Amino acid sequence: MNKLQHKWALVTGASRGVGLRVAKALAQEGCQLIVHSRKLDNTREVVAKLSDMGTKVYPVAAELESTGELENLIQQVRDISGNHLDILFNNAAIMTPWRELFEPTIEDYARSYLVNSIIPAKLCDAFLPAMLERDWGRIVNVTSGIADQPNLMAYSCSKAALDRYVRDMLPTLAGTNVLMNLLDPGWLRTDLGGPEADNHPDSVIPGALVPILCDKNEGSGHLYQAQDYAENEPFARG
Ligand SMILES: NC(=O)c1ccc[n+]([C@@H]2O[C@H](COP(=O)([O-])OP(=O)(O)OC[C@H]3O[C@@H](n4cnc5c(N)ncnc54)[C@H](OP(=O)(O)O)[C@@H]3O)[C@@H](O)[C@H]2O)c1
Repeated sequence: MNKLQHKWALVTGASRGVGLRVAKALAQEGCQLIVHSRKLDNTREVVAKLSDMGTKVYPVAAELESTGELENLIQQVRDISGNHLDILFNNAAIMTPWRELFEPTIEDYARSYLVNSIIPAKLCDAFLPAMLERDWGRIVNVTSGIADQPNLMAYSCSKAALDRYVRDMLPTLAGTNVLMNLLDPGWLRTDLGGPEADNHPDSVIPGALVPILCDKNEGSGHLYQAQDYAENEPFARG
């Protein structure tokens, strides 16, 4: 039987880009899916497609720039999964505007820290305890390989804060079968990555599933690079 058969998975930002590809791939692995976006309308297509494949799939909506919507999101996920979330794919994020050197604003930092680090951290906090109790869980926090781009400093610092959350949770996870890792999807031609990016968003599969399919002995705290597992033809997919 498939390793992930009937596992409950939440994919945030599942309406497009990386999250859409991951939701489809997890459905093919036999997962039961909770797909998140800002509006139910935005996941309507993926819900229809996955339902047609015979997958149990439930849409949830939450604007993650609003802390008020977080508790409701967590409660919905608990209700849908019977408080049994197995896989958390923390993917939704925002890019900050390109700014002149030294000009990123406080608002850029505040918005990106909220959506890209604080909300993902609080989703981990919400679902880790039950995963630890059952001694099974897989959390993938989507980070970024962005480097040396001070014009996007607020975005890159928000990802660094998420990386640090993973690192400092390692002692808590040690010896358990609850694995929390980081994924860098590579530079992709999505709405966030822009049209100039090197890679087609489809190239994120199969790499994005590696930290979910891995065994207990592979442990937590690793940075997986999705492009290490992709075909080496960046523009071949159109
Ligand atoms: N693309 C790249 O080159 C690249 C490189 C490195 C890392 N990453 C990381 O990969 C992840 C996915 O990026 P992507 O390129 O797939 O992005 P994308 O195509 O722009 O998709 C973003 C997803 O996040 C959701 N989202 C955006 N803002 C939100 C908000 N305020 N509240 C709730 N949901 C929100 C969107 O939902 P709606 O459809 O409802 O708006 C959408 O599903 C992100 O963590 C990003 O930082 C991307």
